[in-house]
Amino acid sequence: MSTPRKLAAGNWKMNGTAAELSEVKTLLAEQAAPGCDVLLCPPATLIHRMAQAAEGSILKVGGQDCHARQSGAHTGDISAAMLKDAGASHVILGHSERRADHGESDEDVRAKAEAALAAGLVAVICVGETLEQRESGATLDIVAAQLGGSIPDDVSAGTLVVAYEPVWAIGTGKVPETAQIAEVHDFIRARLSSRFGEAGQGVALLYGGSVKPSNAAEIFAVENVNGALVGGASLKAADFGAIVAALSDA
Ligand code: 13P
Repeated sequence: MSTPRKLAAGNWKMNGTAAELSEVKTLLAEQAAPGCDVLLCPPATLIHRMAQAAEGSILKVGGQDCHARQSGAHTGDISAAMLKDAGASHVILGHSERRADHGESDEDVRAKAEAALAAGLVAVICVGETLEQRESGATLDIVAAQLGGSIPDDVSAGTLVVAYEPVWAIGTGKVPETAQIAEVHDFIRARLSSRFGEAGQGVALLYGGSVKPSNAAEIFAVENVNGALVGGASLKAADFGAIVAALSDA
C-alpha cells in the first residue's frame, strides 16, 4: 500500500504584496520539516518572487487557480503553463471561494485540472459542503459528486492532492469535530481507492478550514488526514511554522 506524503499547504488568497515576502524568509530561516512537504500559494503576482526566494529550500510554490486553456484571448486569466513558467509546482483548483465567486462547476474544475496535469503541475482539488448541506445530511453526497465531477481520470498519487474544506469552517474559527473530519476523510479515501486503486491510496488528503497552531495536532492525529490547507494562519511565519512543525511531528 502506498503511503501518502504529508503536506502543509498555505493559501494566501488575495493577500500579500512584496513586503509580505519577509514572512517567507522568516519561515525558511526557521523551518526544517522532516517527512513533510511545505507549499505556499500566494497571489499570482508573487509566485515568481516567492519561487526565487524558496529556491533550494523545502518550500514549494503554487497558484490558486488556472484557466483550462493553454493560451488565447482570455483577458485576465492565467494558464497552467504560465504558473509553471513562473516557478509553481502546484495549483489549487475548485476552492469554494472560486466555486462561489466565479460560478465554477465541477466540470470547469475538471477541465482546469486536466490543463494543470498537462503542464506538469500537481492539482490540489478542493471539495466541501455548505452549512445548509451539512444540516440537511447531504455532506457525503455533495463530496461524492464533487470528487466524481472534478477529478480527471488520469491522475496519480504524485499529481493529485484532495483538500476537504467544509465551507462553514473557512475563515469562521469553527472546526468540525474530529469524528466529522474522520468520516469525510475516510469516505474520500474509499472513493479514491475504488476509482484509482493503489494510486488512490497514495493521494494526500488535506483538511482545510480554520486550522491554527492550537488545533493542528488534534486534526493531524485523525486517520486519513495527511496535512492541511491553511488560509489565514499561513500568512504569518510563526503560525504557519507551528502548523508545519505539528504535521512533521504527527
Ligand atoms: P482559513 O484557514 O482562513 O479558514 O481558510 C481555509 C481555506 O480556505 C484554505 O484554502
